[in-house]
Amino acid sequence: MSEKVVLAYSGGLDTSVAIQWLKEKYGVDVIAVTIDVGNEKDFSAVRQKALKVGAIKAIVVDAKKTFVDHFVFPALQAGAVYEGQYPLATALSRPLMAKLLADAALEEGASAVAHGCTGKGNDQVRFEVGINALAPHLRIIAPAREWGMTREQTINYAVRNGIPVPITVSSPYSIDENLWGKSIECGALEDPWVEPPEDAYTWTKSVAKTPDKPDYVEIGFAEGIPLSIDGKDLDGVSLLQQLNELAGRHGVGRIDHVEDRLVGIKSREIYEAPAATVLLQAHQALEALVLSKDQLRFKQKAAIEYADLIYNGLWFTRFHLDLAAYVKSTQRFVTGTVRVKLFKGTSSVVGRKSPYSLYNLSLATYDKGDKFDQSASVGFIHIWGLPVRNQAQIQLLGQEDGPLGLSASRSKPRGKKAGK
Ligand code: ARG
Repeated sequence: MSEKVVLAYSGGLDTSVAIQWLKEKYGVDVIAVTIDVGNEKDFSAVRQKALKVGAIKAIVVDAKKTFVDHFVFPALQAGAVYEGQYPLATALSRPLMAKLLADAALEEGASAVAHGCTGKGNDQVRFEVGINALAPHLRIIAPAREWGMTREQTINYAVRNGIPVPITVSSPYSIDENLWGKSIECGALEDPWVEPPEDAYTWTKSVAKTPDKPDYVEIGFAEGIPLSIDGKDLDGVSLLQQLNELAGRHGVGRIDHVEDRLVGIKSREIYEAPAATVLLQAHQALEALVLSKDQLRFKQKAAIEYADLIYNGLWFTRFHLDLAAYVKSTQRFVTGTVRVKLFKGTSSVVGRKSPYSLYNLSLATYDKGDKFDQSASVGFIHIWGLPVRNQAQIQLLGQEDGPLGLSASRSKPRGKKAGK
């Protein structure tokens, strides 16, 4: 009996070629495992294709709900965005896939897991660090990292071996998508000076083609989790699907990012993330209403750490558990509704409310009903300014003032000649 290998199978050219290549090079039986995280695809066709090109078994795992509940929404609660731009759709799916691939390998009695990543990206790291953490006895094979074929050679290999080459192979882009967003790279995008061609975008309309009337959506959150749209309760998967569609129609969620990969390369990536853009914005707006200034500040730092650990493939760590516990604690009062306006490529928060809102109109108002004791400000300023006054007397006035602008003299009135 030959050795069995579980292959992460997308149905694309590379992983289809990998099935044949693994058989040829390693003499193994390939079990194709395809994981549905909301990439719009005909999964039964993908399964059939795996079998047709030589897999001994093909499994499709519907992981949409798990992906949303255990990966996407915790990242939303954390406010995790890599380098201030990338909501981490691809990166979040990898640890889940690593787990499901390891599970499949154990169930099928496979001794190795294979994936289609090249040796230049982040995904190889995320897959392998994840699998090594969960099932260190499994060997990992990365055909596309080993075979050293160019795109053209891969196509020729496919043709020689009767592997169907999809017409989409003519698409110049490398694409990965799931419910949290779509990642697009390669082709014309590799030159960061070149504006992304319109055909790189499929989820979002160009502003020229968006409706001339805005749409308003009300997103209901409970403890930082979005639960409803316009008052209607929705499961997470449907909520993301609806919001991707609606915000995409208004051209919301296009991201053009020159990012820093884990392997040291700067790369230009285009992302489409309509739902992620709207939800991250709405969630942040709600937090601004219910968290204190100190909580908001510290949470921003935690968000950077959280985004980095997701990006860097460190999902299965105690550090992650520690950070997640902190984030969960911050979400206790992040309950309420946020109204977002979608129009001409932008989403804007135009309203927010919460039963736990710290916004106090009787303190903030300039109209009647003002309860803020303005006379108390006199004493506050006196004490707040005390160390400033003290230091100015002793160390500042009459000294070299550098950038403080103290030596700038009053400008002379215009029209008068100096010295007269
Ligand atoms: N640069 C992103 C990341 O590392 C996306 C990678 C997506 N892969 C792709 N084949 N387009 O998370």
